[in-house]
Amino acid sequence: MTAKIIMFGNQKGGVGKTTTALNMATIIAASQFKTLLIDFDPQGNSTSGINGDKKRAGTYQWIINDFEKPIQKTYIPNLDLISSNMELAAADVELFSFNNREFVLKKKLQQIIHHYDFILLDCPPSLGLLTVNAMTASTHIVIPMQCEYYALEGISHISQIIQRIQGGLNPGLKLLGILLTMYDKRSSLNQQIANDIRYHFQQIVFSTVIPRNVKIAEAPSHGKPIILYDVKSSGSISYMDATKELLQRINISEAT
Ligand SMILES: Nc1ncnc2c1ncn2[C@@H]1O[C@H](COP(=O)(O)OP(=O)(O)OP(=O)(O)O)[C@@H](O)[C@H]1O
Ligand SMILES: [Mg+2]
Repeated sequence: MTAKIIMFGNQKGGVGKTTTALNMATIIAASQFKTLLIDFDPQGNSTSGINGDKKRAGTYQWIINDFEKPIQKTYIPNLDLISSNMELAAADVELFSFNNREFVLKKKLQQIIHHYDFILLDCPPSLGLLTVNAMTASTHIVIPMQCEYYALEGISHISQIIQRIQGGLNPGLKLLGILLTMYDKRSSLNQQIANDIRYHFQQIVFSTVIPRNVKIAEAPSHGKPIILYDVKSSGSISYMDATKELLQRINISEAT
C-alpha cells in the first residue's frame, strides 16, 4: 500500500484544523484503515486531543535530528501518532539552512508511506516552512474554514500558495475541498458568508457542514475524539458525514 497523505491547512488560527484532522483520523481508523496522524504544529493540540505522549521525541526530533522511532501507538485501534510539542517551534527557522528545505518531510515520509493507508497532517496556523513542507509532501489538502468576515481574503491567499506549489514543488497536490466549520445556522452573518463562499468556490466546498457544537469543544479536554466522547452529538454525526465525503472526494480525485 501507499498512503494517501492529507494535510489540513489554513494560515488563520482557530478555524478547526486540529479538530478536523484528529476526528477524521479517528473515523478513518475506525473504518479499518491503517492511519497515522502527524502533529505538525508546535502547539501540540492534536497530540493532547487523543491523549498522546507530548514528552517523547516526536515530529521535531524526526525531521530535524533524524530520530528513527517517532511513531507512537494511540489507544485507538489502527491509529498511530507522531506527537509534537513546543520544540517544533524552532523547526521553521532551522529548516531554512537545510538542503532541499521544502522536501525534508517528503523524504522522511518515504520511509513509512508503505505502512499506512492514510497519513493525516495537522498543520500550524502559518504559511511558513512547516506548512510548505506539508504541501510539498501531501497528495491532498483540505482547508477548514469558519464563516467569518475575513474568511474570503484568507482563502484567496492560501489558494495562491497552493497554486504556486502545484506549479513547482508538488504538481500532484490536489485541493480536496474547503470544509465549513463551527457553523451557526442561526447567525445570518454565517449564512451569508457560507453563501458567498459557495458562490465563489462552487463544488470545491464540502456539502457537509460542521455545526458549532459544544461537545466538539469539550471532547479534547477528555483526550477523546468526538465519536468516542459523544457519538450521537451533532458534531459526531457531521464529522462522520464529512469523513465519508472526504473518502469519496479522494476516490474522485484519483479517477481524474
Ligand atoms: N464545530 C465546533 N464546535 C465548537 N467548538 C469547536 C468546533 N470546532 C472546533 N472547536 C473549538 O474551537 C477551537 C479551535 O479549533 P481547532 O483547535 O481545531 O482550530 P485550529 O485551526 O487547529 O487552531 P490553530 O490554528 O490554533 O491550530 C478549539 O477550542 C476547538 O475545540
Ligand atoms: Mg490546531
